[in-house]
Order: sequence, then structure tokens, then C-alpha cells
Amino acid sequence: MSDVTSSTLVQSRRDFLQTAAAASAAGSLLLSPGLSPRVHAGGDDGIKVALIGCGNRGTGAASQALATKYNVKLWAMADAFADRLEGSLKALSSGKAGKYGVEKGAGFGAAIDVPKDRQFIGLDAFQKAIDCGVDVAILTGPPGFRPQHFDYAINAGKHVFMEKPVAAGPAGVRKILEVADRARKKNLKVGVGLQRHHDPSYLEAVQRIQRGDIGKLITLRAYWDGGPPAKVAIPKNNMTELEYQIRNWYFFDWLSGDHIVEQHIHNIDACNWVMGGHPVTAMGMGGRQVRTGKEYGNIFDHHAVEFTYADGTKMFSQCRQIPGCKNQVAEFVEGTNGSAYLNQGRCTLTRGEETLWAPPRRRPGEAENPYQIEHDVLFAAIANGSEHNEADYAASSTMTAIMGRFATYSGKEVKWDEALASNSVPMADALAFDTPAPIQPLPEGGYAIPIPGVTKPF
Ligand SMILES: NC(=O)c1ccc[n+]([C@@H]2O[C@H](COP(=O)([O-])OP(=O)(O)OC[C@H]3O[C@@H](n4cnc5c(N)ncnc54)[C@H](O)[C@@H]3O)[C@@H](O)[C@H]2O)c1
Repeated sequence: MSDVTSSTLVQSRRDFLQTAAAASAAGSLLLSPGLSPRVHAGGDDGIKVALIGCGNRGTGAASQALATKYNVKLWAMADAFADRLEGSLKALSSGKAGKYGVEKGAGFGAAIDVPKDRQFIGLDAFQKAIDCGVDVAILTGPPGFRPQHFDYAINAGKHVFMEKPVAAGPAGVRKILEVADRARKKNLKVGVGLQRHHDPSYLEAVQRIQRGDIGKLITLRAYWDGGPPAKVAIPKNNMTELEYQIRNWYFFDWLSGDHIVEQHIHNIDACNWVMGGHPVTAMGMGGRQVRTGKEYGNIFDHHAVEFTYADGTKMFSQCRQIPGCKNQVAEFVEGTNGSAYLNQGRCTLTRGEETLWAPPRRRPGEAENPYQIEHDVLFAAIANGSEHNEADYAASSTMTAIMGRFATYSGKEVKWDEALASNSVPMADALAFDTPAPIQPLPEGGYAIPIPGVTKPF
């Protein structure tokens, strides 16, 4: 977990340049080896960023990188599809960066410098963007591709911000762990979009739980029950099968991990954070009851999992993407001497009717934005060379959610070591759209849907 608090984040641009200049004068010994010297030579060029995966979140993440206190430039963009890249560039240029991004009335101006020859399209576009003189890669494509993109970025000596989940299957998780270790050895910084770790209310609540304010922990509950995601199924027309699945990545487990991994990871990760580790077994149930159309790939629309940690503590998790039901996105922790409610900006610890701790009340618009803080922390670490690597706990939480999916797909009890060692889900690593897709449509259309009791865990 990150031990960087919001108070350690703020380094002004002047401080940054002074640090940089002093480090340059000292023969760059203080610099992080992954940074190109020009970043520290006065900062004229700024910290150059490549955005890889120019969708909704990528656009937001790029806006947050640009909104840090540092001299950041969006220098290259890469996407599998031209229309996505163009839409993202247009949005950023006009200062509209979507649901999670920073709105900047007049746009980001000269901070966006992505001429045609630094706009790359296709499945190998990520390599070209990483290789065109940038310092940082923002990896926000589908989770299945994350290990491939992360590996290439760290090999090329780039700092990384990558979205969660960091993989869709165990082979990808193992790759992330191996690459994260390499990143540490190269002193490259790695931030991951599990933004609860940068929400001041979570940071305080988790610290209080871990020091024993609510006693010994008995159970945890994690929920992401909501309606369908804002993802529309796109018809195949004359695409190749692989292109079709990547366009519709959300609905394929080998690309998204299913929504238990893609979305519910946030809640599962918060529970792992509280517990200081991952569960060792999972059993559960799930299915596809409402989102049944052939256009919706092979994922479920609901999962419920009982996870058990090594000390016997249970975490009950449920996630549902079905309209018209009770919605709830939060985590709950029960201890022998109190309870905790965990939710963005609103975490609260109670004992019966008594409030043990609640965050300060803020007026609308005053709340600290963890999506921004996670970028402030990352760019501060890049600027001052401090340690920052969030990949390990992200990999652990990604694997926990994958273990949950194995349990709901199979109906069997699944053990951590066996799940992590399995090779059942291929890592997405195609570089061209004419590569065969790892799962193929059925003769009658649609895809094989997992059946509990029949489908093997892995
Ligand atoms: N932290 C959060 O709260 C949060 C919120 C939303 C999304 N996310 C995560 O962000 C990631 C992206 O989600 P999104 O909602 O932006 O999806 P999206 O579909 O809007 O964006 C994904 C983009 O990646 C592109 N792409 C696909 N394959 C690619 C490849 N091989 N190389 C380069 N580009 C490729 C797609 O064309 C698309 O433009 C997911 O991992 C998701 O879980 C995180």
C-alpha cells in the first residue's frame, strides 16, 4: 500500500526545477535513472507523457497528469482504433475530460503537443508511442493487454500510470509482479488507478481499523451492485473476430476479467488493504440472468463470493449489473468492538450509536479528488526520485477478484496458490487484428457461457 499521504504530495514547480537543477549539477546522481536528462535540465520540455488506450478513463487520466503541479506535456497517443484516439484528443484539446477527469474551460493549450506523426493506431501502436521520446506511459487500454503494455514500458525505462485491474488472468498477474520487480530495480515509478488508496477518508479509516479502533476483525463485506456499465455492444460488420472482441472488450473475460474483476476490484481491494493481504480461498455463485444477448460476449451479470483469509476472517462480496435492483457501492468491516463503513470521502467508524470517527464535512466542490491525488503523488515521486510502486498490491487484488471469478464460473472452492499458478486465461498480446482470437464464436452465434458445476475452475 502507498504510504505517501496527501501532505507529502505538493512540490511546486519551482521546487521541482531547483531539485532538478541541483541534481544535474551533482552529476544526476539523485535522479531517477528512468527520466531522460532533459526533464531535469530546466524543464523546458517538461515531463513527456504517452497516453495508451485513449478511452474514457485514459482521457481523464491524461487530464489529471496535465493538472499536476509539474510541467507535464501530452506528447504521444496510441489506441487500437483511430476514432477513439481522435475523440480523446478533441476532448482534451477542448478541456473536457469526461466523468472522472479534470474539466479545463479553455483546454490544456500548449501542454498538448500531439501532432499527426505522434498519433499511433493499431495493436502495436503502444510500442511506437512509448518509443517516441516520452518519460511516462499512461496505460488505460483493456486490462487483458496491461501486462504486455507494462512490460514494454518498463523495458523501455518509462515511468507508468496504469489503470486497474492490472490483468484479466493469472498469467497476466504473474507477469505484472515480475515486471514490477524490474521497475523497482530500475527506480521507475508505478502508480495504479485504485484511487481509494489516495482518498484521505480511506487512508485515515484504514489506519484506525488497523491500529485496533474497532477491535479484532470478524467479517468484511464488499459491494458493487449497480446497473449496466456505460458500455454499448458494437456490431461486428466486417471486423475480424479479434477486432470485434477488442471493440467489445468489456464483455469478454480474457480482456476485462468480467465485471467482478473490472469494476468490483475496487471494493475487494479495499478489503485486502484493511486485512493487509489477500484471501486464500474463494467459493461463490453467479450467472447471467438479464444480460443474455449474444452480443454480450461471455461474462456474467452477477457474482457473489465468500472469500476466506489465512486467519479465517471472511469477506463476503457481491457485484451485480442488473437494472431495477438495490444499488450499493461500499465496503463494511465488523470488528469485536465496532464497525466501519467505507465509501469515497465518507468513511465512518462507529460503535453502536456512537460515532468513533468521521471525516470533516466538506461543501460540494471542496472534496479532495483521489483521481487527482494519485497523479499528484506519482508525478511528485518522478520529480523527486522517491520510491513509488503500487503494482504489487494491485496485482494481489486483481488476482483476488480473478479467484472469485474462477469460483463463480465453476461453482467449486478455489485455492489461491492453484489459481495463481494456472494458465487458463491467455494474456492478450496480439500485435495485429488478423491474429486468431483466443475464444471463438459458437456455430449458432454468441460464445460459450461458463456453467457452474460443469466449467472447470481453471
Ligand atoms: N479507476 C477507476 O475508477 C476507473 C474508472 C473507469 C475505468 N477504469 C479502467 O480504465 C481502463 C479503461 O476503461 P475505459 O472505461 O476507459 O474503457 P474504454 O473502452 O473507454 O477505453 C479503452 C481504450 O483502449 C483502446 N484499446 C483497446 N485495445 C487496445 C490496445 N491493445 N492498445 C491500445 N489501445 C487499446 C480502446 O480502443 C479504447 O479506446 C479499464 O481497465 C477500466 O477498468 C478505471
